[in-house]
Amino acid sequence: MKSFVALSLLPLISALPGHGKPKPAPLKYPGLDVLAKKAGLLYFGTAIDNVVLDNKQYISIAHNRSEFGQVTPSNGQKWMYIEPQRNVFNYTMGDEIVKPAIKAGQMRRCHTFLWHNQLPEWLTSQNWTKTELVGILENHIKNEARHYYDECYAWDVVNEAYNDDGTLRSDIWLDTIGKEYIELAFKFARKYTSPRTRLYYNDYNIETVNNKSTAVAALVKDFKKRHIPIDGVGLQAHFVTGSAPSYDQISAALKLFTKLGVETAITELDVRTQLPDSAEKMAQQATDYTNAVKACVDGDDCVGVTVWDFWDPVSWVPETFPGQGNADLLDANFTRKPAYYKVSDMLGSYD
Ligand SMILES: *[C@@H]1O[C@H](CO)[C@@H](O)[C@H](O)[C@H]1NC(C)=O
Ligand SMILES: *[C@@H]1O[C@H](CO)[C@@H](O)[C@H](O)[C@H]1NC(C)=O
Ligand SMILES: *[C@@H]1O[C@H](CO)[C@@H](O)[C@H](O)[C@H]1NC(C)=O
Ligand SMILES: *[C@@H]1O[C@H](CO)[C@@H](O)[C@H](O)[C@H]1NC(C)=O
Ligand SMILES: *[C@@H]1O[C@H](CO)[C@@H](O)[C@H](O)[C@H]1NC(C)=O
Repeated sequence: MKSFVALSLLPLISALPGHGKPKPAPLKYPGLDVLAKKAGLLYFGTAIDNVVLDNKQYISIAHNRSEFGQVTPSNGQKWMYIEPQRNVFNYTMGDEIVKPAIKAGQMRRCHTFLWHNQLPEWLTSQNWTKTELVGILENHIKNEARHYYDECYAWDVVNEAYNDDGTLRSDIWLDTIGKEYIELAFKFARKYTSPRTRLYYNDYNIETVNNKSTAVAALVKDFKKRHIPIDGVGLQAHFVTGSAPSYDQISAALKLFTKLGVETAITELDVRTQLPDSAEKMAQQATDYTNAVKACVDGDDCVGVTVWDFWDPVSWVPETFPGQGNADLLDANFTRKPAYYKVSDMLGSYD
């Protein structure tokens, strides 16, 4: 009976449009997020800045879920934009990035509740008492956390609190509140975000085992011991072509944190080059990118990689490091660079 049915259906099936044509071969480059998920990551993501929202080609790639399964607002959720006047909240710039990401089905890493930089004038232009500043901090986190209540996979609760030597950075927070400002921020974040939001400490130059990463690990260990909420450490990974940390160095740094029971993520990956660029430099950059992504893929509890934008013309690098640039995966013409292909090939090798 079965074979009869099958045989009698054959002419019908072969008459269907498309039947008999060879199935298209799977794309070799189906997109970074597609490949990253197959390799075991939760996401491959990108930061997006508000300055480029009117560029249709940029936006079509930025919100293409095959390329990027996760989005971070580069600037839109920073204090100076979110609370430009005391207790006056403006979510326009954050929403401009977060809402299209939700619509596109991309995860969001939200960035950042507390940083020493890009603070509003009203906050930095006068001295506060400790009590006043703690109140200001709680009010800021409360409002922003409630606005994005369940919209963020993770929040960078505190950003860049340490100096490279492992001491705490002198800034308005440390100088006014003392070192407990960090745990206060995490407690406020836990109180006002959704219970499933992952709370991260995020910093640069912690991608090797050094004084700074060791200090951050000590913070995590102390928080765990005292039951202060913390779920993850973000390694920014702003690297320089040719002097980026090796795969082994990054792997060892990731372990510093994951062995304490928190997850990790590479949160701001880019690899900047001394200009003019060359084929040799691009090949080195490709290796540097790939080492970082591979260390995350191979590391236990490294959940994903975010590039700090994917398109050279909007990179923060040329403005911050004169003479350097070309730090991203796609060049000014939206052409994929060797780094794009090498990262893709490495991720594809886990299939
Ligand atoms: C999204 O990106 C993938 C991978 O690059 C590509 O194959 C696909 O055509 C893109 N989709 C759109 C709508 O541009
Ligand atoms: C909120 O921010 C947006 C973007 O910067 C700005 O255009 C708008 O005027 C602001 N709204 C208010 C009420 O200040
Ligand atoms: C803040 O305090 C410092 C040190 O006491 C003082 O030098 C400075 O003038 C004060 N700034 C303002 C804006 O009051
Ligand atoms: C690292 O910390 C040790 C003390 O803990 C100090 O002696 C050393 O100078 C520091 N190294 C750097 C590069 O800051
Ligand atoms: C982009 O394309 C134009 C025209 O082909 C070319 O002149 C330019 O060098 C390209 N830019 C980059 C960064 O490759």
